[in-house]
Amino acid sequence: MNEEMMTLEPRGAGDVAAGTAPKRYFVKTFGCQMNVYDSQRMADALAADGYSATENPDDADLILLNTCHIREKAAEKVYSDVGRLREIKAQRKAAGQQTTIAIAGCVAQAEGAEIIRRAPLVDLVIGPQTYHRLPDAVRRARAGEKVVETDYAVEDKFDHLPAPKPAATRSRGVTAFLTVQEGCDKFCTFCVVPYTRGAEVSRPVGQIIAEAERLAASGVREVTLLGQNVNAWHGEGADGRAWGLGELLRRLADIPGLARLRYTTSHPRDMDDGLIAAHRDLPNLMPYLHLPVQAGSDRILKAMNRKHTADDYLALVERIRAARPDIALSGDFIVGFPGETDEDFEATLDLVRKVRYVAAYSFKYSPRAGTPGAGMADQVPEAVKDTRLQALQTLLNEHQADFVGALKGKPVEILIERQGKEPGQVVGRSPWLQPVIVDEKAGGIGDIVTVRITGTGYTLYAEPL
Ligand code: SAH
Ligand code: SF4
Ligand code: F3S
Repeated sequence: MNEEMMTLEPRGAGDVAAGTAPKRYFVKTFGCQMNVYDSQRMADALAADGYSATENPDDADLILLNTCHIREKAAEKVYSDVGRLREIKAQRKAAGQQTTIAIAGCVAQAEGAEIIRRAPLVDLVIGPQTYHRLPDAVRRARAGEKVVETDYAVEDKFDHLPAPKPAATRSRGVTAFLTVQEGCDKFCTFCVVPYTRGAEVSRPVGQIIAEAERLAASGVREVTLLGQNVNAWHGEGADGRAWGLGELLRRLADIPGLARLRYTTSHPRDMDDGLIAAHRDLPNLMPYLHLPVQAGSDRILKAMNRKHTADDYLALVERIRAARPDIALSGDFIVGFPGETDEDFEATLDLVRKVRYVAAYSFKYSPRAGTPGAGMADQVPEAVKDTRLQALQTLLNEHQADFVGALKGKPVEILIERQGKEPGQVVGRSPWLQPVIVDEKAGGIGDIVTVRITGTGYTLYAEPL
């Protein structure tokens, strides 16, 4: 049963004998795609250590919450979730079973040992830079130690994290995430990421290509490159030259089987010519770009430390659209940043009207301890934030509805990703990320087929061509 058992690190004194009952883990993921990717890599590390997955926390010897710290609500959610595990842990204990509760992710990195002080039920706190040490940390926790692993490891975790078995990759579907860049050096004044994820680090080209080839060999058709600032990625190419994300995408586009490439999240300041040229030249780089702007007022952009103006952003969008006319943009917005007046907010609406995003995430500003924004004067009242958020979302929704409405009757290429809920249906995805439901006659999972859009809404309906 443990033939896959693999030692990542020398075992400590707290080792539990191998070959005892099989162990199960349950993982719940919050936050961004990087956490989704990290949860998979932690799952791979646990699988290599003899664990199997369960969907049911009652059955789990290890309950792992991969957390997000970005807004207060997200961070506080961890504590209510842990509270709900109290009963499970007690019941399992009464049945003679040990339950280890582990907190990973950005709350783990930001709060460290404080989590165990506030929630003594927690046995293990592990930050994103040390996930390769998870199996060892779990062993120590199961031997009775309260474990806090939040130091930045000197070794590269990616050199130590085991790859998933091809079957595990296949079970995750025909689309996959691949983290190429971590951390952030931008220090926007509202944001915790530079503190929770550390400085910008790029994974080396060879590591990324090997991982992408492995994914493709297991049947993955679409890879989304991830990074907190994915377009800040840089590295040394196979040709010895300095590569940016554009060159990396060109190389990945040559991997047989990989039909679609995406990347997220990009910062406007790192959209260089090489990346824009990649959008012009690479048919398998999808015409969709998440390019957060946060606000449309130069005064607020400055206070946010975004280091660009609204006009800089609009000029950039124009250059990108000139290179790839069918590109669709999505964005992130914050309303109610300290000092934001009605006039500033109007400037955000103006910018939105000019860009016409096809999708967007908009948030009320949430003051985060330790960030400069939290200490600024003129915090905006909640009620004002509410009104502005509503107005912004109404506008964004209109644009989104216009975009999908215009697809009706048109042929669209979709990647078929999974079975539909109804028998005989499959669900694919458009180049612009909308789910598309179509009869299974259109093709099988992993196929890229052209269908005609018949109905639109959040989900699109289509007929085979
Ligand atoms: N690196 C990305 C964003 C990562 S965080 C970028 O630079 O665009 C994801 C989104 O959460 C941000 O784009 C922002 O819109 C939102 N966000 C971050 N901190 C926030 C805060 N304190 N309050 C409200 N929203 C916030
Ligand atoms: Fe946060 Fe700004 Fe860095 Fe994005 S660029 S992760 S918003 S500090
Ligand atoms: Fe949240 Fe961390 Fe991602 S704070 S948004 S999980 S980088």
